[in-house]
Amino acid sequence: MKNVTITGWGRCVPQSVVTNDDLATVIDTNDEWITSRSGIKERRVSHVNNSDMATLAGRRAIAAAGLEPHDIDYIIVATCTPDRQIPSSAAYVQVKLGADHVAVADINAGCSGFIYGLSMAHGLVATGTAHRVLLVGSEQISSYLNLDERSTAVLFGDGAGAVIIEASDDDSGIKSMALGADGSGAQYLTADGLGTELINSGGPKSIVMDGAQIFKGAVVRMGDGAVSAAKDAGWELDDIDLLIPHQANLRIIDAVRRRIKADESKVFVNIQKYGNTSAATIPIALAEAVEEGRVPPGGKLIFVAFGAGVTWGAAAFQWGDRVEPVATIDDELPEPTRTGLEILMENQRGLQA
Ligand code: UT7
Repeated sequence: MKNVTITGWGRCVPQSVVTNDDLATVIDTNDEWITSRSGIKERRVSHVNNSDMATLAGRRAIAAAGLEPHDIDYIIVATCTPDRQIPSSAAYVQVKLGADHVAVADINAGCSGFIYGLSMAHGLVATGTAHRVLLVGSEQISSYLNLDERSTAVLFGDGAGAVIIEASDDDSGIKSMALGADGSGAQYLTADGLGTELINSGGPKSIVMDGAQIFKGAVVRMGDGAVSAAKDAGWELDDIDLLIPHQANLRIIDAVRRRIKADESKVFVNIQKYGNTSAATIPIALAEAVEEGRVPPGGKLIFVAFGAGVTWGAAAFQWGDRVEPVATIDDELPEPTRTGLEILMENQRGLQA
């Protein structure tokens, strides 16, 4: 079996920032509640399509790996907020990248989507079915938020992160993976009115979450997952250089940190800036961690997530020697013409229409 590693990384977060104080002008909430319950201070709201963020994150990852779009032979987009139900967001990413005729597919494993995608990319590369996979986690959850559901609306944000997955000649790569799901918990986090089952129901459309149930599941599954991923890789907990957890709630992250007995310096946290971007949190955090010098050459990393389904996943990953991108690109998203709050309110009107 070949070693399968990450050779490129990139992220794209939209420019529009919505602070807790901004939200408090349209929702019955306040900065103190949101900060103390979740750790979130602000989030980004997208003025472009999900696939536009995914494409830019993907282009950055391709450049970081020293590749061109035509070098990619498989594109996976992990998302639960695709541009459209048909076709996949990955199809749009393919054409926007100019990666002609390569295989494309979306996967939906909620907030665990990136780790599920990693397991699929691992299988594709290890078996030789694909040689260079672009795996993107990309979400535009702002489109599904009902501002009247205050315990959910304040938690989510938009963004995309991407990695390139290839076979490696060195020791780097995925050392263990553990995935699971419990469909009997499906009702705890749903997008109402947005699927075929509910299309004619006439009810409100939006994400609905039983936060307390999801919280409990996340603490247990992410804690167990991080411990067993390290153990299955043959690592002691002390060996872990950086935990990169799904960013849903600072209290969940802290519980996982305590479970692996790690110091705060060994945990990457950016939830304060972006909120919960679902399948995008881990690849955005990974790209930021590398940029900030938090991933040492040969560093031992743990990725761990929990989300809708309910699903969970954890991976032990050993980074390679290179912590600098081979190349970078200057492209940016177009400048927004509306504020993030205006976009959120317009989306809300669309969901109620
Ligand atoms: O990525 C996977 C998906 N998501 C997650 O993993 C998130 C999991 N859940 C959570 O992060 C937390 O459960 C929440 C942040 C959603 C809620 O935190 P909590 O400590 O469980 O608060 P709570 O639901 O017990 O709410 C406490 C109070 C309630 O008031 P009463 O009934 O005690 O008077 C709520 O009405 O806080 C009230 N509340 C708010 N107050 C101000 C709920 N939302 C808000 C709000 N602003 N936005």
